[in-house]
Amino acid sequence: MNILLTGGTGYIGSHTAVVLAQAGHRMVLLDNYSNSQPEVGDRLAQILGQPVTQIEGDVRDTARLIETLRQYAIEAVIHFAGLKAVGESVARPIDYYAHNVQGTISLLQAMQATGVKILVFSSSATVYGDPQYLPLDEQHPLSATNPYGRSKLHIEAMLADVARSDDHWRIICLRYFNPVGAHESGLIGENLRGAPNNLMPFIAQVASGEQPWLNVYGNDYPTPDGTGVRDYIHVMDLAEGHQAALAVLSAGLEVCSQPAHLITVNLGTGQGYSVLEIVKAFEAVSGRAVPYQIAPRRPGDIAACYAQVSKAADVLGWQARRGLQEMCASAWNWQVQSRPGAVAKARCYRLST
Ligand code: NAD
Ligand code: UFG
Repeated sequence: MNILLTGGTGYIGSHTAVVLAQAGHRMVLLDNYSNSQPEVGDRLAQILGQPVTQIEGDVRDTARLIETLRQYAIEAVIHFAGLKAVGESVARPIDYYAHNVQGTISLLQAMQATGVKILVFSSSATVYGDPQYLPLDEQHPLSATNPYGRSKLHIEAMLADVARSDDHWRIICLRYFNPVGAHESGLIGENLRGAPNNLMPFIAQVASGEQPWLNVYGNDYPTPDGTGVRDYIHVMDLAEGHQAALAVLSAGLEVCSQPAHLITVNLGTGQGYSVLEIVKAFEAVSGRAVPYQIAPRRPGDIAACYAQVSKAADVLGWQARRGLQEMCASAWNWQVQSRPGAVAKARCYRLST
């Protein structure tokens, strides 16, 4: 298929591009490079042994999208583009609604104008809010406590209305749990601006010596060791989930042998790990110490969050295959490959102290 990946040079988009290209799809990566670099395209070409088609563009530019959809005879779109930092969304809500909600409206208008009606959308487990029960299935009530989460809720509601309006639409909303790790080559991974907010990249920087220690945000949660529990999923498994979603959409979306126009599916492993379990696993894989201190709970955090994954298996025929060891190993490999200066400096520092 000819597939447009909005936000295609970003973290999840670039890994999905590898999986789709290796499955024989032809892709166009459209990105405004607000949180990625054009060089990601060169890295992808190195991994794939063939050039990738890249376009600099903003999803809010409907005319540019229409031109791209037509020029490349696009048959399906995977919509990754958007802003994703929860804390930043509280400070800059207008930007979050503009890039995420307005960006999606612009994409839908372009798709409507060109008759492209197959869409996979990047949603998030954040739409479940504070879990009322675990594991989280797709029927769990939805809520949001910040503009980022609310932007995803608005988009999901819009997509449901669009799918209801016209039988030709086929849409899958994928609710990602906690994507971590990187491609085994160490050539692509998550782009970081400043100190990471998320656990795995922060631990990688502590292991390399770039950060002195990890703050563990709370050890008094009602979890086995008191620290927060999450469903971490290897980004390559997540990428394969998109391939499965596209296969189901292009075959004609059906649920229980009934034609469907929109479905929502969790992408997680179904397994929760605590902060301290991640620290221990990372130390074992990297051979480095990860010093930590217990800090107060982070405002807005929940105790535990993990997915019910049976719908992904039933509807997409997909399940995550990679375990925690592989997630940590690839995150460490990305840290070493992408910030060699930082790791070398840390080694000198450790030798001299
Ligand atoms: P990312 O920031 O690495 O990738 C997003 C890409 O979109 C970036 O390359 C950025 O430059 C681009 N972009 C942003 N605004 C744009 C615009 N207006 N026009 C064109 N390009 C634009 O993020 P990611 O981790 O790859 O996330 C991809 C999607 O998955 C996002 O929608 C995010 O909300 C969602 N998601 C991510 C996570 C996660 O933890 N990484 C979890 C759940 C959901
Ligand atoms: N944590 C620490 N120290 C840190 C960073 C995180 O102890 O320095 C803890 C958190 O308190 C939490 C766990 O590690 O218990 C995971 O935190 P992350 O920030 O890595 O991930 P979150 O689950 O908070 O949020 C992520 C994304 C959201 C997304 C959500 C669900 O950042 O955008 O997963 O997909 F909505």
